[in-house]
Amino acid sequence: MKITISCFFLLLILVPLLASSVDNKVYIVYFGQHSNGEKVLHEIENFHLSYLQSVKESEEDAKSSLLYSYKHTINGFAAKLTPDEASKLSEMEEVLSVFPSHGKYSVQTTRSWEFVGLDEGDSHSWKKFQMGGENLLSRAKYGKNIIIGVMDSGVWPESPSFSDEGMDPIPKSWKGICQEGVAFNSSNCNKKIIGARYYVRGFEAQFGSVNGTEDFLSPRDMDGHGTHTASTAGGRQVDDAAAFGGFAKGTASGGAPLARLAIYKACWAVPNQVKANGNICFSADMFAAMDDAIADGVDILSISIGSAQPLAFENDAIGLAALEASRRNILVVCSAGNSGPAPGTLSNTAPWITTIGASSVDRAFLAPVKLGNGMKIIGQSVTPYKMKKMYPLVYAGDVVVPGVAQNLTGQCLPGSLDPTKTKGKIVVCARGAGLRVGKGMEVKRAGGVGLVLANVISNGNEIACDAHFLPATSLTYDDGIKVLEYINSTKNPMAKISPSRTVLHYKPAPSMAGFTSRGPNVVDPNILKPDITAPGINILAAWSEASSPTKLPEDHRSVKYNIESGTSMACPHVSGAAALLKAIHPHWSVAAIKSALMTTATITNSLGEPITDANGNAATPFQFGAGHFRPTKAVDPGLIYDATYNDYLLYLCTAGPNSLIELNSSFKCPANPPSTLTLNYPSFAITNLNTTVTIRRTVTNIGRPKSTYFFSAKPPLGVRVKAMPSILPFKRIGQKLSFSITVSPTNDPTVTKSEYVFGWYSWDDGYYHVRSPMAVYLP
Ligand SMILES: *[C@@H]1O[C@H](CO)[C@@H](O)[C@H](O)[C@H]1NC(C)=O
Ligand SMILES: *[C@@H]1O[C@H](CO)[C@@H](O)[C@H](O)[C@H]1NC(C)=O
Ligand SMILES: *[C@@H]1O[C@H](CO)[C@@H](O)[C@H](O)[C@H]1NC(C)=O
Ligand SMILES: *[C@@H]1O[C@H](CO)[C@@H](O)[C@H](O)[C@H]1NC(C)=O
Ligand SMILES: *[C@@H]1O[C@H](CO)[C@@H](O)[C@H](O)[C@H]1NC(C)=O
Ligand SMILES: *[C@@H]1O[C@H](CO)[C@@H](O)[C@H](O)[C@H]1NC(C)=O
Repeated sequence: MKITISCFFLLLILVPLLASSVDNKVYIVYFGQHSNGEKVLHEIENFHLSYLQSVKESEEDAKSSLLYSYKHTINGFAAKLTPDEASKLSEMEEVLSVFPSHGKYSVQTTRSWEFVGLDEGDSHSWKKFQMGGENLLSRAKYGKNIIIGVMDSGVWPESPSFSDEGMDPIPKSWKGICQEGVAFNSSNCNKKIIGARYYVRGFEAQFGSVNGTEDFLSPRDMDGHGTHTASTAGGRQVDDAAAFGGFAKGTASGGAPLARLAIYKACWAVPNQVKANGNICFSADMFAAMDDAIADGVDILSISIGSAQPLAFENDAIGLAALEASRRNILVVCSAGNSGPAPGTLSNTAPWITTIGASSVDRAFLAPVKLGNGMKIIGQSVTPYKMKKMYPLVYAGDVVVPGVAQNLTGQCLPGSLDPTKTKGKIVVCARGAGLRVGKGMEVKRAGGVGLVLANVISNGNEIACDAHFLPATSLTYDDGIKVLEYINSTKNPMAKISPSRTVLHYKPAPSMAGFTSRGPNVVDPNILKPDITAPGINILAAWSEASSPTKLPEDHRSVKYNIESGTSMACPHVSGAAALLKAIHPHWSVAAIKSALMTTATITNSLGEPITDANGNAATPFQFGAGHFRPTKAVDPGLIYDATYNDYLLYLCTAGPNSLIELNSSFKCPANPPSTLTLNYPSFAITNLNTTVTIRRTVTNIGRPKSTYFFSAKPPLGVRVKAMPSILPFKRIGQKLSFSITVSPTNDPTVTKSEYVFGWYSWDDGYYHVRSPMAVYLP
């Protein structure tokens, strides 16, 4: 065999299977990476088949069970195997790991959050995407030489956001294709959408053929999510874009409006499920998509996909493929997830990934509700319907049909309201279980004339605006209580909902979304995640015309733009910004771009106060990482915390399974691999500060040749932080200087123990301010 695939020690990684599972499941057999040099593609497939044949009855058997042979940068294959066959393969030489292709991944608008039943809601509002102005955009030539790969639910290519009018020819380096399929042919690609592919074998192995009324068997998007994220990252500037009802009218623009987009559809509609619950994405399909994207020549990969629960490295297709991407210096930007506010919920935790939390923007859609006692409460809404007079106001819990579970009485779940008690009334429904838009639908079904949607306590002040089917407004938790108190206080409660108006410079912004997934990072608590936060509440972007704004089956409206919320929406903001940075600094490493974004982020809001969470309390780095991104600052960060692919391999020696991931023959893990705290990361977290911990970091000067940086810190409560040396005198550009930070407990008895405390340190030269967050657990 001509291809040399390096020899590995064997690793056995198997995830226990349910006894009831069918015999053949899809597994990924992972060999690590391909060796450099000439590759003959069919030989790779033969190599993979030879492994498969050794556990299957016959050659035909092997061939028919093979789903994908990953040929470009990822070395491995996906095949239908019995647990026994999987276990045999995992014991073979050269096989690094064998893991099931699971469908634990989903797209991350807040709808997927509803799907897991914790709370609901997808949302609305937006602001013109402020990348920090014309200056950065023009310096970056609007990102025209940068290719952003978007792995998602496909694209609606006819959207004005994807027009290629006036764009330069496609970069010569591009190796991707425009794959044809249902309602999608090569003329759907252009100089903006320069590539489009789809990956469905993993999905079909679980669900059978794609049902043509539920999804397009092609790169075309029937959901809207992929169109939304792609246009946020790299859509054109479109004047007069607006959501249903004319809300958020203004210029819609992606972060890098002239960047090229390459679409990798790996997420599909779940059969027989309400589309509003969001698409599902299988590991086997995403592995194939990322393998192609890396080989096609994307510069940035934008992935608004994650798992509801964190996944270990050896079981995480996105993390493993992103490692290969980092080897090719491709930045992978991922959403943190929508499983907040519970701690430890964050996904996409690998240190070579840039992980994004979600926060609000300074645009609001104010829709007051006037109560019979004259009190006016300001909610938010993007529902255009007018209400001419006052109507009776009721709490949903008082008008339910008998038999609704006690804990769900106020939630307006489908079928829960009694039409005889609801007709002609405005109904107060609580968030919580069920889709927000479904609650409006239920009120309408029962003959109600308006909806007041009140947050439950975990939603706090995070307002979700939806394109409801009737007059509606959404209230914070506190305001919802006020309305309920009014209802309790009078015999004939009345109200009137006014149509909303769009308000800019709404303060304070940003504030963190209640849904944004939180640290600590349970996969490796030493790596502080997320890395940064970006706009993810009420974001306007392009939409699939085969979908409706609410994605409910009863909704037959079609829109070109839609307002959505989720870390899914935050991720492509950063992908677009990273494209601009990459255009200006083509040689920056993946780690350098991430470092620049992190160390220049802000931790204060538009009032100059600390960024708050959805309940108005100070938010922490477990929600926003280093803070809210500031692309104009990131372009010139002064110092960089750099790291190489080799550093990540060394990291995996400790963090990976069996402390022994050996991804290629020339890299050997040391006998005693160092703590993962040694990775040169722009932030850190310490899990159990019972004694002094010393952390070493190295910074590279890319600011001014001669500059002297001084250390300062705001230590967490009960913690002492010192640097050695505390002055870094640089003499030239590119110079690296190292320092040690010692972190120790003050042992102050008044300090609360057994919890994480937060602080930061920074290096300042009078011009640059290079800030890093820290999280410390005091036992
Ligand atoms: C293995 O890793 C080393 C260190 O990163 C790298 O220089 C080398 O090219 C890699 N070898 C192969 C065969 O990919
Ligand atoms: C692609 O589809 C468009 C629109 O449906 C059609 O006009 C065009 O002829 C098709 N092109 C090819 C090459 O099939
Ligand atoms: C396809 O999906 C539609 C809508 O969900 C459903 O009504 C129909 O029965 C499905 N067809 C098949 C063959 O499953
Ligand atoms: C509500 O209560 C029912 C019955 O006790 C339970 O099965 C259900 O899970 C609860 N739902 C929520 C959202 O708490
Ligand atoms: C309204 O009255 C009901 C029944 O007395 C009570 O359970 C509820 O807590 C009251 N709500 C508010 C917001 O005061
Ligand atoms: C201190 O913390 C480390 C790291 O968690 C642990 O290994 C060690 O046992 C602890 N030492 C004491 C004295 O508690």
